[in-house]
Amino acid sequence: MRVEPITRLVGHIAVPGDKSISHRSVLLGALCEGETRITGFGRSADTEATIEAVRALGITVYEHGEDTLHVFGKGLRGLTAPGRPIDCANAGTLVRLIAGILAGQDGQEFELTGDESLSARPMRRVTEPLGRMGAGVETEDGHLPLGIQGRPLHAITYELPVASAQVKSAILLAGLYADGETTVVEPEPTRDHTELMLEAAGVSITRREKSVSVRPPERLELGEIEVPGDFSSAAPFIVAATLVPGSELHIHGVNLNPRRTGLLTILERMGGRVTVYNRRRIGGERAGDLEIRSAELVATTVFGPEVPLAIDELPLFALLASCAHGNSRLRGAEELRAKESDRVEATVEALRALGQHVQGTEDGFRIKGVPTRPRGGRISSRGDHRIAMLGAVAALDSQDGVEIEDAACVAVSFPGFFELLDSLRREAAA
Ligand code: S3P
Repeated sequence: MRVEPITRLVGHIAVPGDKSISHRSVLLGALCEGETRITGFGRSADTEATIEAVRALGITVYEHGEDTLHVFGKGLRGLTAPGRPIDCANAGTLVRLIAGILAGQDGQEFELTGDESLSARPMRRVTEPLGRMGAGVETEDGHLPLGIQGRPLHAITYELPVASAQVKSAILLAGLYADGETTVVEPEPTRDHTELMLEAAGVSITRREKSVSVRPPERLELGEIEVPGDFSSAAPFIVAATLVPGSELHIHGVNLNPRRTGLLTILERMGGRVTVYNRRRIGGERAGDLEIRSAELVATTVFGPEVPLAIDELPLFALLASCAHGNSRLRGAEELRAKESDRVEATVEALRALGQHVQGTEDGFRIKGVPTRPRGGRISSRGDHRIAMLGAVAALDSQDGVEIEDAACVAVSFPGFFELLDSLRREAAA
């Protein structure tokens, strides 16, 4: 796929429903009593794997058009083991969250598998706490395939060794089946979509600054869920409009959960010009519209609590910083190495191939900012959707355009990404 530079980004766009919330809506919908209606569902390869997973467990899901689903839940204990492996494809959120749910299906056995990328990612971070709660768990040396025997679970208090919303969620979901109150302590706050949705479903959740507890409920009931636009899918366009001079882009209906919008805080510090308006709630989550104007940027350092709040946007931060005045740094982000690819290596390789000055470190990047347009060139996505989109964003601001190897992987989170780019190109030419 070749992506050419664009003259400017102008107009009004919307992005698909949030991926994290879409996964959770289907998984929790399956555990509800009766029907859950989901609108604004973010359809992607990842979230379709979740629909297929709950279907394999005996749940009926009706699909109406592109983004409305009806999930016919069978209650907390109504899932039935399919007698064959459940394929989680590329979806880390699916495999970790469903592991917590299956651990509580007393007397049933399950096997979870995934694609090559997912099979290389660490699973002990979920099997260890689930094992402590009493579930039977087996991995292939800490990796997929993952075998789960559902058993009666004990409540635990668990201190997460790494800040991970997926692991936190797996434990909270297993806590729905425990014999008391389960508590997860986080080293830094991470996205809280699971807590918010469980509360909306009637579960008793106690939240403290760095910990959260769940009590086993009698039943779950959601009724309706509206999924707001995905901030992580808006992020490539926020960055592109910031970098390409003369831009003025509006993105509507975006999830602005503060545990997701670390990039906005970072960008503001760098001199970015993003305004939030029409603040409102969509599906129990904070949301709003964004106006992004191009800006000259200055360097900054990102570390500590800011890292989980911008975790999926850190490759884009590296691009922003490489176009800023001064030298930037990212520290404390070793988790980037455990994503769909090693995102420290993948980002460094991609940005260097385009003429940018980025160096990888054990836990992040050192970036030398040069406030000129990236040269352009050829990159490999390494099959990682966020790296493919990083290449496309750099291309828009580049001198010569960018050739992206394996750009089709954007479908993992955002199948319409390149069509949306094309529509912006037509808008810019109009
Ligand atoms: C997610 C949590 C994050 C994030 C991923 C989605 C979630 O992963 O990178 O894209 O939906 O809970 P970790 O929990 O591994 O940090």
